[in-house]
Amino acid sequence: MKSGKWLAAIALMSAAPILYCASGIAAQPAGAKPDNADLRAVYATVQEIGEGKSVANTCSRCHGANGISTTKGTPHIAGQRPAYLYTKLKAYQTGVRRDEGMQSAIKFLSDDALFKVAAYYGSLEPAPPLAATVKAAPPRSDPVAAGKAAAAACAGCHGDGGVSKIPGMPSLVGMDPKYLVTAMKAYTNGQRKDDTMKALVAPLTDSDMNSIALYYALEQPAKAQTPVKGDQAAGKVAAAACAGCHGETGVSTNPANPSIAGQDAQYLVNTMLAYKNGSRTEGTMKNAVAGLDDKAIENLAAFYAAQAPRAPKAARPMTTAEWAARCDRCHGINGNSIDVRVPALAAQRADYLDKALRSYRDGERKGSVMAAMTSTLSDADIEGLAYYYARQRARAVVYVPSPAR
Ligand code: HEC
Ligand code: HEC
Ligand code: HEC
Ligand code: HEC
Repeated sequence: MKSGKWLAAIALMSAAPILYCASGIAAQPAGAKPDNADLRAVYATVQEIGEGKSVANTCSRCHGANGISTTKGTPHIAGQRPAYLYTKLKAYQTGVRRDEGMQSAIKFLSDDALFKVAAYYGSLEPAPPLAATVKAAPPRSDPVAAGKAAAAACAGCHGDGGVSKIPGMPSLVGMDPKYLVTAMKAYTNGQRKDDTMKALVAPLTDSDMNSIALYYALEQPAKAQTPVKGDQAAGKVAAAACAGCHGETGVSTNPANPSIAGQDAQYLVNTMLAYKNGSRTEGTMKNAVAGLDDKAIENLAAFYAAQAPRAPKAARPMTTAEWAARCDRCHGINGNSIDVRVPALAAQRADYLDKALRSYRDGERKGSVMAAMTSTLSDADIEGLAYYYARQRARAVVYVPSPAR
């Protein structure tokens, strides 16, 4: 039945015509032979697809009529890429992927039945995208931009970009974001006494504080633009006692201990005095400064103020759109895969995408590139991506007659 062979090609039906052509080619993996078992579903005949439909009777109670699921955690399989469907059916059958209901549903199906049912579902119209009216996770906004906006209220005292110009005001740049957040909270929990800072920090939420701290951490570090007096050389000698916690040159690698390189000298003096006289209650610092007189404190401040601050370890988290651009490299534009072995994500159920991403990240689904792709995703990243892809319009797999082979 040579002329009856059909070749699956994935058409991005309303996308640009160039993509249409490109995708038609991409759907035939280089050097693929129809007798390659994993690709059999792609080269199924009309008759085989028809036989797959009768196998599908046992699937619809979970995957819905026509492969469009109405069950939480159960994926749509209509219009999914056929070679992918087939290999995943094998994965559940061999126990590489685990799901009790799914595994028992296909336990006794022959290889032939599996490729035919995969071809059948692959040939169906995909689900419509998740309606915009369904409430979704808010898209991951850019926390650095939010932090920058909130930090506008701080610049009058702490300087633009957190570089102090006023003696007595600390620079906020060059510090680990975790330290900055702890320091802000110290004003509201009473560990530090400064009524101005307490009033300024009180209305901030945890997320505000995190964003502000991240913004400062990512700004270019620079020394405070304030006067320095005292003997730096003498300060350097005394600073040997501080290096274990604050680093050789005041650049700390432990977020519990602040970096003090390039800090405003007057603020350094003020805080050392505050630890000494007990108005700042932190214990380790009380011991460190207990034996220091005013001159020694001034010299230490001069030494640290003259050191170059350095950027702490901090990275800007990616937005949903930035993540999706990475995912689309394999999963196709807006999650419409043009490789028959890679699943489409467009219009998939958000709850299923969420579950699948967590299971790659948490190691329940093993042995695919997805483990590495998901290792750094936060729960919020996953939620954002799940809703993002659920809302994309799915492009069907269309079966076009293949030339005789
Ligand atoms: C008892 C309910 C149930 C039945 C019956 C069932 N499935 Fe499933 N199926 C599931 C669930 C739940 C999952 C998701 C499991 C997971 O998270 O890995 C799934 C996953 C799949 C997947 C993987 C989809 C993807 O995007 O990775 C395929 C393919 C599939 N099913 C096909 C079938 C076919 C074909 C049949 C009928 C022969 C069938 N299923 C019968 C519940 C069922
Ligand atoms: C009216 C001036 C003023 C404004 C406005 C201000 N601060 Fe402060 N801030 C201070 C002073 C003074 C200190 C030092 C207090 C002390 O001695 O503990 C301080 C200390 C801090 C510290 C501790 C720094 C360290 O090295 O431990 C942080 C963090 C901080 N401020 C964050 C902020 C943020 C965020 C804002 C804006 C929301 C802000 N401040 C607005 C005056 C101000
Ligand atoms: C055992 C570790 C440790 C040692 C040793 C130590 N520090 Fe600290 N230092 C800290 C910690 C922790 C804090 C933050 C305390 C807080 O939250 O108020 C701190 C805070 C400071 C601050 C305030 C910074 C700011 O941004 O508010 C200064 C200044 C300082 N240390 C200077 C010194 C000097 C100078 C020495 C040596 C004489 C020294 N420290 C020794 C742990 C240490
Ligand atoms: C290097 C290529 C590649 C990249 C990049 C990639 N994926 Fe995947 N993805 C795959 C492959 C291959 C599979 C099939 C894995 C399997 O067999 O379980 C897959 C599977 C999935 C699945 C399971 C689909 C299903 O129906 O069960 C989801 C969800 C997914 N990827 C989402 C993403 C997201 C979100 C990103 C971006 C953060 C991403 N992928 C990036 C190649 C990739």
